[in-house]
Amino acid sequence: METTDPLDQILTCRLDSRRKAVEPCTVIIFGASGDLTSRKLIPALYHLHIEGQLPRPVRVIGFARREKSDASFREEMHTALKQFSRTKPVDEAKWAEFAAGLHYCQGEFNDPTAYKKLEGMLDSFGDERLRRNLLFYLSTSPTQFAEVTSHLSNAGLLHREPTGTGWERLVVEKPFGTDLSSAQSLSAELTKYARERQLFRIDHYLGKETVQNILMFRFSNSIFETLWNRRSIDHVQITVSEKHAVGLRGGYYEDAGAIRDMVQNHLLQVLALVAMEPPVNLEAESIRDEKVKLLKSVRQYHPSQVAANVVRGQYTAGSIDGQARPGYREEPKVKADSSVETFVALRLFIDNWRWAGVPFYLRTGKNLPVSASEVRIQFHQTPNVLFAAQCGTNLDSNSLTLRLQPNESIFMHINGKVPGTSMEIRPVRMHFDYDSEFGAYTPEAYERLLLEAIAGDATLFIRRDEVEAAWSLIDPIREAWTKEPMVEKEFYAAGSWGPEAADELLAKMNHRWRKPHPTA
Ligand code: BG6
Repeated sequence: METTDPLDQILTCRLDSRRKAVEPCTVIIFGASGDLTSRKLIPALYHLHIEGQLPRPVRVIGFARREKSDASFREEMHTALKQFSRTKPVDEAKWAEFAAGLHYCQGEFNDPTAYKKLEGMLDSFGDERLRRNLLFYLSTSPTQFAEVTSHLSNAGLLHREPTGTGWERLVVEKPFGTDLSSAQSLSAELTKYARERQLFRIDHYLGKETVQNILMFRFSNSIFETLWNRRSIDHVQITVSEKHAVGLRGGYYEDAGAIRDMVQNHLLQVLALVAMEPPVNLEAESIRDEKVKLLKSVRQYHPSQVAANVVRGQYTAGSIDGQARPGYREEPKVKADSSVETFVALRLFIDNWRWAGVPFYLRTGKNLPVSASEVRIQFHQTPNVLFAAQCGTNLDSNSLTLRLQPNESIFMHINGKVPGTSMEIRPVRMHFDYDSEFGAYTPEAYERLLLEAIAGDATLFIRRDEVEAAWSLIDPIREAWTKEPMVEKEFYAAGSWGPEAADELLAKMNHRWRKPHPTA
């Protein structure tokens, strides 16, 4: 860590001793021909290897339908790594070490003999710990989660009852279900073959450094806790805006829409971390208990209340940075009359003692002017005397912004006098910037998540009741929308900040969206 003051080094509290140790194991990736494996999982494992964080020995087996040899799989992953690695150039010697433990098993997900073949591969490994400790990573379509899991169980690779000799864990990618009842059925199905504690449901936002820092920030700094409530905070804005379009993901997106793709998971997770009560300790279950409690305190809307509190939008043709963008309905695999939302803005209330009456505004969308994610805590205005009496709405209230990405930072807006003989006040910033403080080290979320799953620490994964609490908030919104095709005022041009109704949603309470400036 780069620090300017040696005292900072002394005052660095290392919590790593609490971390669970990683044991030699085999990571088996189902769906190894997919994008996630080449873009995220293999680069993440490679970086963990470089940093010496992976257990030794460790093996990785890619399992997928296409015919490939170990050599051709390694070659394919090597090519992908050169493109997607966060550090370049690829360290060829380290890659060669890592690739020696990379294997491929060809098979259909529904074919029992493929799992026998997998078992044969596992048994053929020299170190028996590689056979005993198994991490199954399901990077498949969610419709295949249950099938793969039942085959693993039938093949004797996954045990619900502890065998006493090692561990078996399942990592499942999002989306976990498409609504409350499907999420419940999926959990019920998976827990026929594995216990809840063997299930690691991924939300990659929880692996982001800045998202993890929310808890550290809140609960290791006493100055903010006294302000973190309805008495000091006027409202909170959580924005996850994306410049890119749906593009080639139309097939998936038509079933998901922004509310299932982003809000049900990433945005609600950020909300939970920002607003939850302090956990009794730092154990996974204590933290997850508080998140669930928070999600359950979010007021659920009846479908009839959705229009007043939730705005959806869909992009039409427009341009970003001078580049023309087609409308959503023109994207491949999207219906010409699709009413699927590519933008959502919500006003949520948390009905508990701390937050009663404080609006939490959440928004996310594709084809917005910038890619940036941030949480903005907007404090109350000063009383209408002195400067406020003279400046009116020109005197901004204080705010604290947690910039999750890019240019990861935390900054406060306070008002200050503009130097000079005139009497001018304007907002100025107090700024903590990750790069200048710690150097440009931003590990990929998947590195942390894979490591935690190997270590068996579930803190950064979503528990069953958490997923269900989140779906309970989303289902009535979807119910209201499915009855109503999209109307003119719900469309927004690519490159704009969404439909006007999103601004009106805040204007009802005299609020306005604060636009993230990702370069700031
Ligand atoms: C994924 C969504 O979960 O998160 C994508 O499916 C979205 O639609 C992505 O673009 C955003 O992740 P990040 O890490 O780029 O903010």
